[in-house]
Amino acid sequence: MIVESGAGMAAHFSDEEYRSCGAIIADDAESLYRQTNVILKVRAPDAEEAGLIQPESTLICILEPWNKRDLVRQLAERSVRTFALDLVPRTSRAQSMDVLSAMAGISGYRAVLSGAMALPRYFPMLMTAAGTIHPARVLVIGAGVAGLMAIATARRLGAVVEAYDLRPEVREQVESLGADFIDIPVPETDATGSSGYAKAQSDAFYAAQRQHLSDCVARADLVITTAAVPGKPAPKLIDQETIHRMKRGSVIVDLAADRGGNVEGTVLNRKVDVDGVTLVGHVNHPARVPVHASQLLTRNITGFLLNMTKEGQLVPDRDDDIVAATLITSEGRIFFDDDPKPSAGVASTQENNEPDINIKEKDTV
Ligand code: NAI
Repeated sequence: MIVESGAGMAAHFSDEEYRSCGAIIADDAESLYRQTNVILKVRAPDAEEAGLIQPESTLICILEPWNKRDLVRQLAERSVRTFALDLVPRTSRAQSMDVLSAMAGISGYRAVLSGAMALPRYFPMLMTAAGTIHPARVLVIGAGVAGLMAIATARRLGAVVEAYDLRPEVREQVESLGADFIDIPVPETDATGSSGYAKAQSDAFYAAQRQHLSDCVARADLVITTAAVPGKPAPKLIDQETIHRMKRGSVIVDLAADRGGNVEGTVLNRKVDVDGVTLVGHVNHPARVPVHASQLLTRNITGFLLNMTKEGQLVPDRDDDIVAATLITSEGRIFFDDDPKPSAGVASTQENNEPDINIKEKDTV
């Protein structure tokens, strides 16, 4: 095991700790790539880094191949065998390798904390000598992995939580976390597609959703949106008119910002003020919880690697559904259907360190 010097610093893991676990520390990426034939990375390499990878090596990372077509071609030309962790199928057997779920959970948690920090009010109900504080009202739109974690986190902080999802089957999960599931009178639709994901709907359907959700959004102090459809831009579920109906000081955290956003006016990686409402478009929330993001990714990647290992050798079996779904390049060929898939909100190609605008105090978002 060879680790690039400083690779763990941002997550508070020192070179010394890796050494004490038996790893060799390489001074830089160049020397690391010279010595390795299986590369485990969080994100995809850029073109320069990919040029350092030895031909016939194996690369395993969150690749976003639909956004990285040139890179995929480059890796194929170099005869690198590449696996995209973000394409691990969502089956019971692959659950421990599911990076999308692991990172979406963190995003849901962190979205509530970001929202709470931006909100000029308490979350819990408090009865004090100076008067009674009413609990914050939180609305979560999209109750998948990130949404359910957001509901649980907001409930733990004492908020009154409502949630909505296109897929009616999540009602029970929402209610089991102590939130109210919102019914809106949209036309009956075929909501659930393969692997439990939502199906894309017509523009008229989304317009009806926007209209019926408007009252729920207007009465919320904090709205967290996570709605996504594989391979499609995020549906627009909140328009400017609705934002103008919200109380001043309310907050919206748009977790779909890297897929175009669920909210009209979301700016990727920015926190903006729209008529007194704070609209948070930050992505890559897992990087703000780096210790546990690393711990979970480690389990995901280790499980993935061991599934292809026999007696210390990497022997991927193309008949294994996990191998087949994730193999992108091998022996100069590209095994990727070119069909756009969604981002996890984890591996955004944009960095999350740009300055906020219209906000006086920079908080920890
Ligand atoms: P996602 O990130 O693609 O979407 C987030 C949520 O947005 C989903 O719940 C979706 O129904 C909702 N949504 C989409 N369009 C909407 C609209 N117009 N209005 C309101 N909500 C909308 O999905 P995520 O969170 O990654 O997973 C969704 C589901 O996939 C899970 O709830 C589960 O059923 C399934 N899954 C299964 C796994 C397994 O079996 N190992 C692992 C992870 C997920």
